[in-house]
Amino acid sequence: MESIGAITESTLGSNWLDPLGKPAEVGESQTERTEHCEKHGEFLSKIVGAGKPWAFWTGCEACHEEQYLEQERISREARRIEHIERLTKALGIPLRFKGKTLETFLPETDDQVQVLQQAREYVADIHDNLATGKCLILVGPPGTGKTHIACGMLYVAVAEQKSGRFATVSEVIRDLRSTWSRDSNVSEGDMLDRYVSPRLLVLDEVGCSFGSEAEKVQIFNVLNERYNAMRPTIVISNLDINGLKEYLGERVIDRMRENEGRILVFKGQSWRGRGIVSTPVEEERALSAYELTQRELRAPMSPSITNPGFKPPRKLPAHLYQEQ
Ligand SMILES: Nc1ncnc2c1ncn2[C@@H]1O[C@H](COP(=O)(O)OP(=O)(O)OP(=O)(O)O)[C@@H](O)[C@H]1O
Ligand SMILES: [Mg+2]
Ligand SMILES: [Zn+2]
Repeated sequence: MESIGAITESTLGSNWLDPLGKPAEVGESQTERTEHCEKHGEFLSKIVGAGKPWAFWTGCEACHEEQYLEQERISREARRIEHIERLTKALGIPLRFKGKTLETFLPETDDQVQVLQQAREYVADIHDNLATGKCLILVGPPGTGKTHIACGMLYVAVAEQKSGRFATVSEVIRDLRSTWSRDSNVSEGDMLDRYVSPRLLVLDEVGCSFGSEAEKVQIFNVLNERYNAMRPTIVISNLDINGLKEYLGERVIDRMRENEGRILVFKGQSWRGRGIVSTPVEEERALSAYELTQRELRAPMSPSITNPGFKPPRKLPAHLYQEQ
């Protein structure tokens, strides 16, 4: 191996100074000397550029090695983060769930251990599951980690070179509906294909709004086309399985349960706002914001089907989330 001195002399000249080295005296006659590194002990230091005004003694090789490895680690980490950011955007994963993986899901109860285990089993067989179109339905109360786990599974699928996409029902409806505009240069079929072609689709917030019949037909089309193409979908909902059947129709659920499609039931307290005690006023505000969103979501599609009587339940009864 060429010595550090030789490399610097020939390739870098006086523009390069060893950051761990020491300046040399002009007229220094020695070319090597023993130095002491606080961390690595004695090492052989060599003079570079002897006789030149910028001459210096090289620093500890072991420190150089460590510095190099650390810089490598930092740039690898930066590349990893950049990759996750690009991936998250490309998959349509919401920013909040950027980098949320199965590894960062921390199960605290037996139920959580079980859903994590089921998710791990799914990804352990990801190739077969994607080839046979094995679907998953994730149900449970708010904040119990359904979206987190689904994003974790999606990241695994794309790491295995499979295409994937994350979307909420309202995004799908909005995209499909945007093609109806005269200004749109995307056909409805092409837009539908954006949700049908990925190998794995995570469809979140199913049943969150009281979908009109037209909306339900659109969601049915997406799920049915995917079923026909043997592409699995992970459906996420706050509804229980009976509610989902009512919302999506028995035929959809029936299709999803083919090929051993499974229902993962999330239970327990919301992870959100842990340790934060919300006051009744804050709760009221959160609920009215929720209602407003629901109304906004529904308004452009079917203003006639507004449901002024609708009040989201404050606490959803636990029995809704037992597997049927
Ligand atoms: N077991 C867990 N370990 C680590 N983080 C968790 C866990 N459960 C939930 N979280 C975090 O709590 C937040 C809420 O979880 P998430 O959004 O996945 O819940 P959800 O079941 O999808 O809720 P909703 O039905 O309201 O959409 C997220 O930031 C998620 O990463
Ligand atoms: Mg969610
Ligand atoms: Zn050293």
